[in-house]
Amino acid sequence: MMRLDLLRSLPGRTDNAVLAFLVPKDNRQRALALRRIHEVVPLPAPVRAGKDFEGKEEETLLLYTDRGGRPQRIILAGLGEFAKRSEPSNRSINLERFRAASAAAAKRAAQANSTAKTLVISVPGGIGGKEKFPSSEEILVGVFEGAALGLYRFDRYLSEKKGKTKLTTIALHPDGFDPGNALKRARVIVSSVTFARDLANAPANEVYPASFAYRVKKTGRKSGFRVTVFDEKKISTLGMGGILAVSAGAREWHPPRFIILEYRGPRPVNEKPVVIVGKGVTFDSGGISLKPSANMAEMKMDMSGAAAVAGTFKAAAELRLPVHLVGVVPLTENMPGGSATKPGDIIRISDGQTVEVDNTDAEGRLILADALSYIRKRYPRGVEAVIDLATLTGACVVALGQYATGMLGTNRKVLDELKKAGEETYERVWELPLYKEYDHLLKSDVADVKNAGGRWAGAITAACFLKKFAGNMPWVHLDIAGTAILEEAAPYAPKGGSGVGVRLLVQYLQNRVGRKNA
Ligand code: BES
Ligand code: MN
Ligand code: ZN
Repeated sequence: MMRLDLLRSLPGRTDNAVLAFLVPKDNRQRALALRRIHEVVPLPAPVRAGKDFEGKEEETLLLYTDRGGRPQRIILAGLGEFAKRSEPSNRSINLERFRAASAAAAKRAAQANSTAKTLVISVPGGIGGKEKFPSSEEILVGVFEGAALGLYRFDRYLSEKKGKTKLTTIALHPDGFDPGNALKRARVIVSSVTFARDLANAPANEVYPASFAYRVKKTGRKSGFRVTVFDEKKISTLGMGGILAVSAGAREWHPPRFIILEYRGPRPVNEKPVVIVGKGVTFDSGGISLKPSANMAEMKMDMSGAAAVAGTFKAAAELRLPVHLVGVVPLTENMPGGSATKPGDIIRISDGQTVEVDNTDAEGRLILADALSYIRKRYPRGVEAVIDLATLTGACVVALGQYATGMLGTNRKVLDELKKAGEETYERVWELPLYKEYDHLLKSDVADVKNAGGRWAGAITAACFLKKFAGNMPWVHLDIAGTAILEEAAPYAPKGGSGVGVRLLVQYLQNRVGRKNA
């Protein structure tokens, strides 16, 4: 992982560092920025005149200057046009520009065949006026996130790390402003998102229920949160019929686990716990309702919700956030086999409700039902909020693609808080309706409910199912099927596991803390 650092001043002439500058597209602002850069490193006249570099989004320019007798690589990266005050979410868009430009600069630097170990990014203060803009600290964190997460690769298994960057450090130079707490925050956030991405991208022969639980436990010891692991026997004693049914086909080799994470920060602002739940299907073959083989390998990432919960705990604990946080993660494989659950089987969730398993590929909701029932029982006096994250439905991917997480829930306040955190982090969520009219699609002739709702509104009927087990807890469900498993690279995430949810939830928690402390 990249080392992150802050610099008080730009380094003098050196060939050990690549220098990057972020440049706005707006003519006046660009001219201003280029003039300031030129004071530090001599820019060729056509560049200075704004001819060869316009500052567009995704645009980068690599320059070689002779700086006091030494070659110096300079990168300009475009910030694009800032969103106008009248545009929706302008503040959020503008902050994202910094993340994306920083990622572009980092990727360009990594491509340059340089031996430099450090990428220095100069971050200008006071661009673009006040109201419509994020704070300097937010911008700095964003620039760290963009560069460090943009260089993330899952290359642990590559014998020959082709084109691997020689960069080891990203150092930011805040040009004329106070960095605040940006360095500490960025280090924690980047390492926590990386932790979640590594868990998601690791193949299912490495990350299975027991090994996932072990890794989280180890991280808990280091970062400062408690992890309790229930094994198959305990799960069975607790009557968690959903988890037992889904794991039935995999029992022999990879038995299920149920883990509970707990972190109580110093003088927590919440009295009742905030509970986060993550779907932890370490491989989803579909079970007897077997998936087609095309893209089935992606289903090693069907534990991305669980990874997001683990990453959020790492971050919350390392930031010592003053919150009381509980995490609940059911872990299982979903496999076919002689002992596997069959379509038509009727099972009993731990709260007593019966479910007809119409489709064994609708497994996530079965294990989440046990998780929600467990929370209801364990906290009879209620919780502040229950938020579940799950790669739950292909239907959600059809509806929203990879740029928005589907959100449904029963509590307006929690929904709105997540919406806000989504804008701030650009891990955006989009609400879908949870009208009671959809409920009848899950009616079963032989059990209290069936687990699949048919062809239409799949993301919604999945949430309707969960609602039955959330009872009257203030509950929000995040369907991250499209946003956690990227089919295409994003500005600061390669194809594959994105670690989505970590930045979103940390921001959500931070906002809660901020408000109470203000
Ligand atoms: N893990 C899948 C959902 C999924 C699909 C996530 C594609 C990411 C990409 C989930 O367990 C599943 O198979 N859902 C079924 C539900 C259906 C059988 C009611 C689906 O979406 O097809
Ligand atoms: Mn499935
Ligand atoms: Zn699944």
